[in-house]
Amino acid sequence: MCGIFGYIGKKENSLEIVIKGLQKLEYRGYDSWGVATEIDGQLFIEKKVGKISEAKTDDFHDKKCQFAIGHTRWATHGGVTDINAHPHFSSDKTIAVVHNGIIENYEELRDELGRDNFISQTDSEVVAQLIAKFRKEMSFKDAVLAAINKLKGRYAIVVMNVGENYLIAARRGSPLIVGVGDGEYFLASDIPAFLEYTQNVNYLDDDEMVIVDGNVEFINLTTGRSVEKRLINIDWKAEGAEKGEYDHYMLKEIMEQKDSILRAINQDTDEIMHIAQQIKKSRGCFFSGCGTAGKVCMAGEYFFSLIANRHVNFAPASEFPVYHHFLRPESLLVVVSQSGETADVLEAMDAAKSKNAKVLSIVNAEGSTIARQSDFSLHIKAGPEKAVASTKAATSQMALLMLIATAMVDELQEGRRQLAEVASKINDMLNPRFLTYIKAVAEKIKDHENCYIIGKAENYPMALEAAIKIQEVSYVHAEGFAAGELKHGPIALVTDGTPCIALVANDEVKNDTINNTIELKARGAHIIGISPEKHEVFDDWIKVPDVGIASPLVNIIPTQLLAYYIAVLRGLDPDMPRNLAKSVTVK
Ligand code: G6P
Repeated sequence: MCGIFGYIGKKENSLEIVIKGLQKLEYRGYDSWGVATEIDGQLFIEKKVGKISEAKTDDFHDKKCQFAIGHTRWATHGGVTDINAHPHFSSDKTIAVVHNGIIENYEELRDELGRDNFISQTDSEVVAQLIAKFRKEMSFKDAVLAAINKLKGRYAIVVMNVGENYLIAARRGSPLIVGVGDGEYFLASDIPAFLEYTQNVNYLDDDEMVIVDGNVEFINLTTGRSVEKRLINIDWKAEGAEKGEYDHYMLKEIMEQKDSILRAINQDTDEIMHIAQQIKKSRGCFFSGCGTAGKVCMAGEYFFSLIANRHVNFAPASEFPVYHHFLRPESLLVVVSQSGETADVLEAMDAAKSKNAKVLSIVNAEGSTIARQSDFSLHIKAGPEKAVASTKAATSQMALLMLIATAMVDELQEGRRQLAEVASKINDMLNPRFLTYIKAVAEKIKDHENCYIIGKAENYPMALEAAIKIQEVSYVHAEGFAAGELKHGPIALVTDGTPCIALVANDEVKNDTINNTIELKARGAHIIGISPEKHEVFDDWIKVPDVGIASPLVNIIPTQLLAYYIAVLRGLDPDMPRNLAKSVTVK
């Protein structure tokens, strides 16, 4: 949800560096972009509607400056226009700001600063105007401090002041990371933006500010004192965050499930056992996450019930407030997130902490806010996930939840062995022939405007997840149902040729699911069966390995591929679906 990037260092092509960095953050927002620097003592700004990937670095080749800031936008306040794009600047053109988050009291601040001074409809412009107002009476640093004191809401900002050779950044609730290179610094919303220059980072915490010139100084905004930070080396390679041989990140990330699951289950045994004990001793265990991570939580709910005989309460993070009054010190909140920055999840965690309940997080982005604010955090090690549609993170998160469930019944070693076998079967399954076959199935259904997916027990959450995948990248109206619920309403939607996907496993509910599939077929549905075994009811059969209770991990993969190919065959870009963003840092 908006990507911000700032550079300061020895190189004079700062604008080109900023644009390249923003291009790596495009998955965070892609409706408009902008950059700012100082040229000949004047503020230079360029802002445009459109994708940052379309920006040409050559256009900025002759604009030399050793610092610059930039932004790629996912609109919240104000439509998608050049003027509403960031950076925003003060009326006197001395201050420029890029902002991620929402300034909740911006209306009030606009009144205070004089509405006529504003040229955009954004909440962010108040930050630039406010700093400029204070700057008339104090230093750049003090002006930023004074302005921040007046802001309500969540934000990460990077600010420049014409005539001052340094950048200031601050955060509350939205991510901001400092990449520390050789005599140069990068301020970015996410690590892949600067991985080609450095793997050394400092994480800015909430209510902290950083002043970056030739050095870097961190300041706690509450105490006003300097803070010492540990330099962290990130174990990610720049190539891991690139598309490589693939046309799209989504396909690359689907294919990475050949080995990402193995990395996820390779966790410290003592730590997993400790976490299993914490869950067992908790009185009231809650699972929460958003979007795909929410569906992973639901799958976890089934794993915990079926494997560990333990009841947990799942609610999507945006609905979690209804559970707040059940939280107490003995409760445990388990949150799942790829980005580790999702605002609704952070709110659920705040609620848990306010009641002294413990929080366990299962995240992909190491060092993210969710990871750092948890009592226990497990890193799934899936590597950078850039496509908006989450794929490899989901299977890794499910594998880890299943592993924890086995640890709760003292079967961790056996659980690990089973999951390693699942990983090896997925490796076999994801071969070129399999992809070609799924593309051919996608070709058959790509022109239908409706598609339904059914699953039962542990595959019910996967029916919901498959629907999200198809909706978000191909814009087909897809819906997932509990197989047994069909006859209570949804079956009325099925007409001749409606594509219906049945997720079937070799489990106790197999016959029920097949019977429900037969009911669909009797109403004219075109049945795509995802199952280890063929059945005559299937018009198309996608064979998956038989992995018992771990079936959600294998059944979801063909639906990811179907979603991908339907999008591509409909001429869409699956990596950048309309209206969506990868990391949702606003509520
Ligand atoms: C956004 C993304 C989804 C993701 C959800 C939760 O909506 O588009 O793909 O599942 O956020 O994100 P998280 O980073 O918390 O897993």
